[in-house]
Amino acid sequence: MPDLAATQTTILCRDERFRIYLDQETLHRRVQEIGDQISRDYEGQRPILIGVLNGAFMFLADLMRSISIECEVDFLKLSSYGAQKISSGVVHELKKIDAELQGRHVIVVEDIIDTGLSMKYILDRLLEYQPASVRTATLLHKADATRVPVPLDYVGFSIENLFVIGYGLDYGQLGRNLPAVYILDEEAA
Ligand code: PRP
Repeated sequence: MPDLAATQTTILCRDERFRIYLDQETLHRRVQEIGDQISRDYEGQRPILIGVLNGAFMFLADLMRSISIECEVDFLKLSSYGAQKISSGVVHELKKIDAELQGRHVIVVEDIIDTGLSMKYILDRLLEYQPASVRTATLLHKADATRVPVPLDYVGFSIENLFVIGYGLDYGQLGRNLPAVYILDEEAA
């Protein structure tokens, strides 16, 4: 897979050219900072991280490894029709949360908050489980695209309204395995 080489500053994904935006070192440094912050904030507690599939899997894996206190993990997957899946009001949970969340300290982990509709849906849904507390962690936040207010407790990077892939984020399901975050190279179009 030569087009997905880790060290390249530009790559091809589905015949589109992307250029590097957040390199591995930058990502790992920031993820470690968030892990350290969570370890301090939840000292003496045992938070449970809820990863939102598919995109969050890589951030979640690195984030968990950077947390030094006891913590647990579970996953949630929503039906995927882009932002429409939420705004249409028809949301299917393709994978429900299995863990018992009543009385637990929950951290919802996303790869990206775009319109905010997914996170709002998840937070509303979580209230039904009566957790002790809920916070959010997202690697990326597109502030200009966010349409609904959602609490942003741990944000890796606030980014412009750009199309991004890599480090879990996809373009038509490809590109998730890129170890860095890339943006569409408009100049190459
Ligand atoms: C992406 C991302 C978030 C959501 C953010 O998921 O992982 O869950 O969209 O967008 P929003 O803030 O506008 O709701 P997607 O449905 O693309 O599925 P994926 O994680 O499997 O790529």
